[in-house]
Amino acid sequence: MTPHIRTPLPGPNAQKIIQQDEQYTSPSYTRIYPLVVDRASGVTVEDVDGNLFLDFTAGIAVVATGHCHPNIVNAIHYQSSKLIHMSGTDFYYKAQGDLARKLAEITPGPSRKKVLFTNSGAEAVEAAFKLARYHTKRQHMIAFIGAFHGRTLGALSLTGSKIVQVENFAPLVPEVTHIGYGYCYRCPYNLVYDSCKIACVSYLEETLFKTIVSPKEVAAIIVEPIQGEGGYIVPPPEYHPMLKKICEKYDILYIVDEVQSGMGRTGKMFAIEHWGVEPDVICLAKGIASGMPLGALIAREDVMTWAEGSHASTFGGNPVSCAAALETIRLLEQGLIQNAKEVGEELFKILLGLKEKHPWMGDVRGKGLMVGVEIVKNRSTKENAPQERNAVIREAFQRGLLLLSCGESVIRFSPPLVVSREEVESACDIFDQVLTVLEKGRKP
Ligand SMILES: Cc1ncc(COP(=O)(O)O)c(C=O)c1O
Repeated sequence: MTPHIRTPLPGPNAQKIIQQDEQYTSPSYTRIYPLVVDRASGVTVEDVDGNLFLDFTAGIAVVATGHCHPNIVNAIHYQSSKLIHMSGTDFYYKAQGDLARKLAEITPGPSRKKVLFTNSGAEAVEAAFKLARYHTKRQHMIAFIGAFHGRTLGALSLTGSKIVQVENFAPLVPEVTHIGYGYCYRCPYNLVYDSCKIACVSYLEETLFKTIVSPKEVAAIIVEPIQGEGGYIVPPPEYHPMLKKICEKYDILYIVDEVQSGMGRTGKMFAIEHWGVEPDVICLAKGIASGMPLGALIAREDVMTWAEGSHASTFGGNPVSCAAALETIRLLEQGLIQNAKEVGEELFKILLGLKEKHPWMGDVRGKGLMVGVEIVKNRSTKENAPQERNAVIREAFQRGLLLLSCGESVIRFSPPLVVSREEVESACDIFDQVLTVLEKGRKP
């Protein structure tokens, strides 16, 4: 029965591991609560003291098919008994070719696609940045405030998320401009949807291209279809079609970062499909291989024009990761995307209901199993409540529910796509209890 908490947290075994970790592991990691994982299956995570947790983080939106799905484990076993590494940059093997073909086939839009493999999301973004410059022979990039694209220097230059991520790392890659995102709950222009006429997009032509950078020098606009780390922010229906139209008008590449929102999480294979727009380039990672390290850059064939030797990675497209990805996509197509849609709607409905009774819940938003709750001190002023948000996450952990934060004041619900209605109900019950206790100012 999950959750089941049998020791004080962290338990004795967890404490020993944490002590050693603190001595030897980089202090740059952010652990909001002391979870030490031993094993995991489906949506259940077991810690080293035998406590069972409901995982509504999916290892930061990664284990799409649930922890250790038997088909994924089999695919990994089978592939690793045949070939673990050869490097798809210099040699051929079937798993990489099959995955490239599958990704090219499932990517939105009629254009033919090509795929480059990486090991992570940041590397996929890095590759997109380089490809944009290479293909367009232009230098400038436009990205968004609140965007998270990764931590390598190129990806970091496109990121506009938290100051701690950039402080002391300058100089970043030049020729990047950040503009406000389609964040209607906190409109960057203090306007109200839809009387705003989507000013967050028209700003490009009405202001930016007239004053700061010529559109003729812009290589690409890179955008998350739904902002992830920025706060699970869903832009309005007009947003992506309008951005794409501007890109087409000025021959600017439209790059979509689906690292967090892709691979079925939102109830469609790619989140951008909710807006019906074909990207020129897509960045993928996280959920693509159910936890095996893999990233991918998918671009229109007529965009991926770079020369032999111009970009590659030794480990990118590792055969074991590719085998896990092929099986992941099969499971997604065979029902998990549909489950994300249906169970996601249930999650959304329950959270909206809870909003009626919990004043700390300022906003509930999302698609499929990518749902965020913005925690506020006061509904009318919308004052951010990061401390209250963190207290909710920590107390949920104590009661056996794993959640993570995003944005300044948001809690994200991103369970594996195998999650059931019953598990969603249990998670929401715990969330409800935690809010009830904390809002009353009682010590839980
Ligand atoms: C939208 C997005 N892009 C890129 C990244 C970076 O991915 P990675 O941590 O695999 O480098 C992340 C990670 O959270 C992300 O959410």
